[in-house]
Amino acid sequence: MDTENTPAEQESKGITRKTLLKAALVAPLPLLVGQLPALARDARATGEPLVPTPYCSDDDDPTIPQIEGPYFKPNSPLRTTLAGPGTPGTPLTLSGYVFGLACQPLANVLLDFWQADNNGGYDNVGFTFRGHQYTNAQGAFTLTTIVPGLYPGRTRHIHVKVQAPNRPILTTQLYFPGEPRNSTDTIYDPRLLMNVRTANPGKEATFDFVLNVPGGPGQSPSPSPSVSPSTPPGGTWRAGTTYQAGAQVTYGGATYRCLQTHTAQVGWEPPNVPALWQRV
Ligand SMILES: [Fe+2]
Repeated sequence: MDTENTPAEQESKGITRKTLLKAALVAPLPLLVGQLPALARDARATGEPLVPTPYCSDDDDPTIPQIEGPYFKPNSPLRTTLAGPGTPGTPLTLSGYVFGLACQPLANVLLDFWQADNNGGYDNVGFTFRGHQYTNAQGAFTLTTIVPGLYPGRTRHIHVKVQAPNRPILTTQLYFPGEPRNSTDTIYDPRLLMNVRTANPGKEATFDFVLNVPGGPGQSPSPSPSVSPSTPPGGTWRAGTTYQAGAQVTYGGATYRCLQTHTAQVGWEPPNVPALWQRV
């Protein structure tokens, strides 16, 4: 269970006390257990609401964007598992949280992952190693996949688009520590290194996203239920409706086609979520 970040990588990541504490939310570090107030994960285990704790108050910069690259495909399946026991490659479980600028965990954040297979190839015909999911009420996500293979010109990486409701899309990439090509890949950025450890089987990785979403501790960026859906007169889009990929709605006088099957909610009106709706 050794961490695979080298000291230089940890230094270059600017690992702060907050970073370590956030890591402890996902996988408690023996050094830290017993030295902290109740961890958020403890509250989660008991079903209590996740309360931002005082240590989550320093200022992390928002997760940086990176290029999309040539292999993104819209309309990925809704799923958290991209690989099974029979899938060639090293099993990898990636988990983490999505926070706003004030360290508030963000629920219902869309995460759309895509990556290469064990041989470094992307499925540009189907949706192998492509899938989207949403953070839960505690702002957490988990992806079950494999360690992506290498392909020419790049170091090892996972692509992701992250979008809080009614907010812009963050497109970025995640990296593995200790990869020889990290030093030669001009796109690589150490601020996007995951924490990776050896597990049985395979690897476990953690990464917490920080989105440019304002808010105070305990606040949610999602509109409260008292906010009425902003469906304009004459539009057919409705919050709470499950739309299949290919379905069409009108909103604000325009027609949109659904790119990914999902259940609509306030904040996901078609103009706000280009990952879900395309204007036709
Ligand atoms: Fe790629």
